[in-house]
Amino acid sequence: MSDAPLLKLSGLEQVFDTKKGPVPAVGGVDLEVKPGKVLCLVGESGCGKTTTARAAAGLTRPTGGTVEFRGRSLADMDGAERAAYRRAVQYIHQDPYAALNPTRTVYSTLSAGLKRHGLVKNRTEARAKAAELLRLVELTPPESYLDSYPHQLSGGQRQRVNVARSLAMNPELLICDESTSMLDVSIRVSLLNTLGRLRDDLDVGFLFITHDLAVAKYFAWDGEIAVMYLGKVVEHGPTPEVIGNPQHPYTKALIGAVCEPDPDLARANRSAVQLRSAEIPSLTDLPAGCAFHPRCPAFEPGLCDAGEPSLAFAGAPGGGVSRPQRRRVSCHVVARDLGRGVPSAGRDAADLTLTFDAVPGSRRSAPEGKAEDPQTPRGAAWSA
Ligand SMILES: Nc1ncnc2c1ncn2[C@@H]1O[C@H](COP(=O)(O)OP(=O)(O)OP(=O)(O)O)[C@@H](O)[C@H]1O
Ligand code: SF4
Ligand SMILES: [Mg+2]
Repeated sequence: MSDAPLLKLSGLEQVFDTKKGPVPAVGGVDLEVKPGKVLCLVGESGCGKTTTARAAAGLTRPTGGTVEFRGRSLADMDGAERAAYRRAVQYIHQDPYAALNPTRTVYSTLSAGLKRHGLVKNRTEARAKAAELLRLVELTPPESYLDSYPHQLSGGQRQRVNVARSLAMNPELLICDESTSMLDVSIRVSLLNTLGRLRDDLDVGFLFITHDLAVAKYFAWDGEIAVMYLGKVVEHGPTPEVIGNPQHPYTKALIGAVCEPDPDLARANRSAVQLRSAEIPSLTDLPAGCAFHPRCPAFEPGLCDAGEPSLAFAGAPGGGVSRPQRRRVSCHVVARDLGRGVPSAGRDAADLTLTFDAVPGSRRSAPEGKAEDPQTPRGAAWSA
């Protein structure tokens, strides 16, 4: 598999002009998605996940930075390249109810794109292809669904039709914006497993947005997580490292807020990170220095409010780097402590056990074991 990124965001910025003044919804994001890999964007409501995704999908024009697909900047693409890009990159919305035209049957929905892009010659081919797509998303037998209208389907079935419609274009990248969040848990897991098979068997890359860290861990164990706060990435790295041993205080707070069924773990998670304030600052009036400082439990006056921290590679304590640096963290205190050889102030991986855990996908091994090793996925057991 090529290691070249499918999607590359460089210095991506999106400033909205509003009556209250400019809203810097995304303030300089650098991220990549590789073929067959998942990049999860997580963060609380309003942190800029959808705005980033919409710019990545070419649905909005960013006010700064670039979006590249297979090394080609979107801004430089001609009409034919843009049409190919629109086929290769598909966006799956959150709401399975609103995304489908209620007056069209499943067959009509699936065949519209196939016909428009000349991917089928006649109705027989279109029906056969639509049936194949339904099998891919496990709506079987397809004949039971092809002539159904959206109101005759459940939410999970509708979202599968949405996924099937995206797959009709043979996409290389799926951008899923909270695509499973409106589904109940068992249907969500089933759809995530279907998406996992597409990732593994068809090498589809994913920009996968969720505010739910349990879902991020479930779907992106082999991939990466980028944690966003007020329009910026504050921590980014391989999922097992970010979840197992978070470095940024905001990531720790997010993990501490995960709904944890084990009461002892829930208490431990909650008590480990107590925010100084629950209030999210306004994007139109960002705090000086680190934007997280009014809420951060590790805040140090004079350091954290003096200048904005940059997203820098976080090496091993003491400067020793035993493996390639793949984790980036934006925090003055983490940077200073690592430079001094002080281990991360947070809990270590063993303390941060979360009981939700699963590793979908055919390529993944899931060894048994209780300990949370950031390098080693554990067995599959959904309990979120
Ligand atoms: N068209 C717009 N005009 C003005 N402000 C906008 C616009 N779109 C988004 N915003 C603002 O940009 C910020 C980021 O919004 P965005 O929808 O990207 O957040 P999000 O992380 O996807 O949140 P959620 O988890 O609630 O979906 C928010 O403060 C939002 O109000
Ligand atoms: S820079 Fe300071 S305020 Fe910001 S996250 Fe780090 S410790 Fe907290
Ligand atoms: Mg959103």
